[in-house]
This record gives sequence, C-alpha cells and structure tokens, in this order.
Amino acid sequence: MPTAPEQHPPNFDPLAPLYRWMEIFSFGPLLARCRFQFLAQSLPLKSVLVLGDGDGRYTQRLLQSNPQVQVTAVDGSRAMLAALQQRAAAVGATDRLTVLQRDLRSFTPDGCYDGVVTHFSLDCLQESEVEQLVARVVRTLAPGALWVVSEFAIPAGRAKAAAARAIVGALYFAFRLMTGLGTRRLPDYAAILARHGFERLGAVPRLGGLLTAELWWLATRDDFTASVRDIV
Ligand SMILES: C[S@@+](CC[C@H](N)C(=O)[O-])C[C@H]1O[C@@H](n2cnc3c(N)ncnc32)[C@H](O)[C@@H]1O
Repeated sequence: MPTAPEQHPPNFDPLAPLYRWMEIFSFGPLLARCRFQFLAQSLPLKSVLVLGDGDGRYTQRLLQSNPQVQVTAVDGSRAMLAALQQRAAAVGATDRLTVLQRDLRSFTPDGCYDGVVTHFSLDCLQESEVEQLVARVVRTLAPGALWVVSEFAIPAGRAKAAAARAIVGALYFAFRLMTGLGTRRLPDYAAILARHGFERLGAVPRLGGLLTAELWWLATRDDFTASVRDIV
C-alpha cells in the first residue's frame, strides 16, 4: 500500500505564464520538438491520460490533430490547468478535455486509457513515486496502450555525461528555488516502465542525448499494436 506524500507538491503556479518563454530562452525549440516527436505520426489513440500536463501546448495539438481523442489532463498547478483550458477552448475542444488538479504522487486514475503522456513531468518525482504512479496507471490501460515520454537524460560518454549532470543539477536547483521541487535526480523511468510490461518502440535523442523523446507500448500481440509497429 503506497504511503501518502508528506509534502505539498511543487508550486508551478507562478511559472505558468512564463514557462513557455523560459523554455524557449533556455532550450530554443528543442523541448517542443521532443514533445511533438510522436504526435506527427498520428498515433491511433482514443482516450489519453496526460500526467503533469503543464500549460497545455501538447494537449492542444493532440486535440487538434486527433478529432476523436478524449483527454484527461492531470496537474498539481491550478494556473497551468487554466492555461490548458484556454488553449483547448481556442481549438474548440473543451468537450473532449477533462482536467484534474491532483498530486501525481497520490493520483489514482479511473477509466480506461489507450495512451499515457508524460512530458518532462516524471523528472519532478522521486524514483519510488514514479514506480507507484506507473503501478496505479497501468491497471487502467488497455492492452497495447502507448506511453509517450519526453525527458532529460544522461548520455553515455564521460564528457557528455558530466556536462549533462551539470545542466540537470542546475535545472533542479533553479526549480527548487522557483517551485519548491524536492526531487534532485532523474528517475530511471525506463527500468520502471520495462518492469511493468512496457517495451520501447522508439527513442529520439536530442542535444547530444541530454533530451530524449520516447514511445513505449504495453506489449501484447493484438492487431492494434501491430498497426502501431507499422507506424513507428
Ligand atoms: C516541468 S513542467 C512540464 C510541463 C509539461 N508537461 C511540458 O512538457 O511543458 C512539470 C509539470 O508537472 C506538474 N507537477 C510536478 N510535480 C507534480 C506533482 N507532484 N503533482 C502534480 N503535478 C505535478 C507541474 O505543475 C508542471 O505543470
């Protein structure tokens, strides 16, 4: 039985109006390219859970590019969710969006999903919290469900790894000051997803491996997953 988190979740509210510009100033278009990497391939999703959605730039595009998809977006930040709702309204898709203000460390989804999306949000959690979150989410997933991930990573090679550790450490320090984020190191989400039955279908590294966009699936052998393999 998972224990309830003792601390408040980080407070991203003050960053909501700035987040997009902070990202562009620090990484240019690269985080956006990670986020949208697998969107371009029109994954055949009908019901998607977006965890740590943020200001809704990904979800807006998802709703726009896939007219059949229903999205449940979860975030601890009221201001981020308000920005998301505005973006969904701008593309006339509020009827296909449910927003939930929840702490991911205790969030238990209900419903049934064929896709999960975590863009730069698993890195806000401790490894044990990611493990528990994945365990709670996987119970609600259809066979062959997809999990789309964008994350920071530590690449192979001494010099690259040292540079990446310095950058990731600086980012954690900055987010601790700005939001109260307690996490200090990247969780090994890949090992966790693999333990829960996911296989990695594709991974696209950027910025020398500091960033990665990945597509995972809950391994089964039905027709749906076969069609996804063809796309990737
Ligand atoms: C770094 S931002 C990434 C946002 C978005 N996915 C993106 O790609 O821009 C992390 C998001 O996760 C949310 N978040 C972080 N920790 C959380 C927690 N424990 N519970 C709920 N939301 C959380 C923050 O409010 C924020 O919107």
